[in-house]
Amino acid sequence: MTTPRILESFTFPRTGHVVSNRLVLAAMTNKQSHADGSLSDEELAWLEARAGFGIVTTCAAHVALDGQGWDGELGVHDDALMPGLRRLAVALTAAGTLSLVQIFHGGVRAPSRLTGKQPWSASVFELDSPNFETPRAATEVDIQRAIVAFAIAARRCAQAGFDGVEIHGAHGYLVTQFLGTVTNTRRDAWGGDLAGRARFVRAIVEAVRAATPEGFLVGVRLSPEVPEQGVSLDEALQVARWLVEDGVDFLHVSNWDSFKPPAAHPESDKLLTTWFREAVGPEVPVIATGGVWTPAQAQAVMEQGADLVGLARAAIGNARWPEHAGRTGWEPARPPYTPEHLKGEVLSAALIDYMRMWPGFVTDGAAAEGA
Ligand SMILES: Cc1cc2nc3c(=O)[nH]c(=O)nc-3n(C[C@H](O)[C@H](O)[C@H](O)COP(=O)(O)O)c2cc1C
Repeated sequence: MTTPRILESFTFPRTGHVVSNRLVLAAMTNKQSHADGSLSDEELAWLEARAGFGIVTTCAAHVALDGQGWDGELGVHDDALMPGLRRLAVALTAAGTLSLVQIFHGGVRAPSRLTGKQPWSASVFELDSPNFETPRAATEVDIQRAIVAFAIAARRCAQAGFDGVEIHGAHGYLVTQFLGTVTNTRRDAWGGDLAGRARFVRAIVEAVRAATPEGFLVGVRLSPEVPEQGVSLDEALQVARWLVEDGVDFLHVSNWDSFKPPAAHPESDKLLTTWFREAVGPEVPVIATGGVWTPAQAQAVMEQGADLVGLARAAIGNARWPEHAGRTGWEPARPPYTPEHLKGEVLSAALIDYMRMWPGFVTDGAAAEGA
């Protein structure tokens, strides 16, 4: 029997890193870190249990104290966190997976409740979202400080023994806030046309690259469209092209649903991953994530143009998804899950509690949407 493509190995062209299969554990906020951002035994166990994925990505980890988005979030902002980061990198490497830290700054989505400060962003704006706090507009010092924070955090990840970082440019956090026309109305060099709005993410890539060793992977996660912040498909595709010109080692497209066309082209039979693949050409590794539950769906996302396929929700209830994926007819367990099932899949009480907020995910949690 031939090996399904999703279980074939993959080599990153620039660094030569070899990944044992095409499956990526996508970044997932899991609320299991200690209050100071240090790694807990529970977070270590949760990630280690998923080391059958060719790549394991940590949750979004804050590069600066004023960028923390959630309680219990892993931090990469301080040397004091190094012992936990080292422990995690060593454990993941020993388990045979390639390890990435997702580095991020929440911007307007770093609440004052956690940071003790008014959030800042590219500009002052209002968004219709729960607990929204109006941000102040970044000063030049804020911007330079954040770029340096990303670079130093990435260097910490390299020193801890991780294989690379994924810069979080998706889902409406600080990098996206700089990209969007609603959230970035600056008139200086960090705003204006797309080249100005994309300058922040490109400067982060450049600084991260300069601060980390030659063989360290540096990639960026992007959303194809964030309408409420003013990120359009055409602009996201152009940003992706620029990042490839800048030499990123991979692009990660966050589709949420890989089987839908872009909102900008609802009639198109070309799905989101294909739009990105065609925009960036065949050379750069592309990870695509969103809406994959079964091995056949993962295979289909590769056929759309991805080299590697990310999974999040399916990996919560099926820690050993990659080990099962080669078995004919295997079907993953689907939500709603009982708390006992999730405990068996190495989720701590804190994470099970968080998943109760996701509609229809835990049997005793929030009601399913539309139910
Ligand atoms: C509990 C949970 C936490 C998440 N946290 C993050 C995160 O920290 N960073 C990120 O980029 N995406 C995050 N996501 C989004 C996932 O990485 C993924 O893109 C999304 O869930 C769609 O993939 P799926 O259909 O396989 O779940 C999170 C998703 C879930 C379910």
